[in-house]
Amino acid sequence: MFITLLSILIMSTTRITTYTLPVLPYPSHALEPVISKATLENHHGKHFAAYVNNLNKMIPGSEYEGLLVEEIVQQAADGPIYNNAGQVMNHKLYFEQFIPTAQYKVPGRRITHAINYHFGGMEAFKKQMNEAAMSIFGSGWVWLAMDTEGRLVIVKESGGGNPWRRGMTPILGIDCWEHSWYLDYAFDKKVHFDTLWEIMNWDVIESRLPL
Ligand SMILES: [Fe+2]
Repeated sequence: MFITLLSILIMSTTRITTYTLPVLPYPSHALEPVISKATLENHHGKHFAAYVNNLNKMIPGSEYEGLLVEEIVQQAADGPIYNNAGQVMNHKLYFEQFIPTAQYKVPGRRITHAINYHFGGMEAFKKQMNEAAMSIFGSGWVWLAMDTEGRLVIVKESGGGNPWRRGMTPILGIDCWEHSWYLDYAFDKKVHFDTLWEIMNWDVIESRLPL
């Protein structure tokens, strides 16, 4: 079993009573023109905040009281609690993985080697991720994840799903819900998925690779 950052987080964090909305690691205009200020403020300040608020209403008094979001995602039955916990986990990973275009750095050696090994190259990998994102019908996510055998795989999830639930480590997530792209790209979401690569923070993404 791999020791991941997430599992370290679970082992070392004390029980919690309130879930809080993480602060964005950049100003809300910082990802323009790939993601507009309006989309970012709506996505983070309304949608992500709603998932956090929903969790704070649902968890007290439930069997999941005191658990970390990551533990709820692993343990909750399919339904509203799982959906909201999944979306809280997903959006935290999502917003943390971006960086303003001006600060963009090329992927480091470790993540590059892993992607080259498992997908045959960075461009081939991006193409597969984008094709998976375009193939999501309705709402869902596409993840680059490490499976339990140590392989990097592309995983499609409906709703607020995360491969963490099945013992995989999420490395990079693409939000395919309309709220992530519709305001900026209307009926051309392919452009959104294509340009997201311009704001990937590869240092953060690489740090999620299990050691
Ligand atoms: Fe979202």
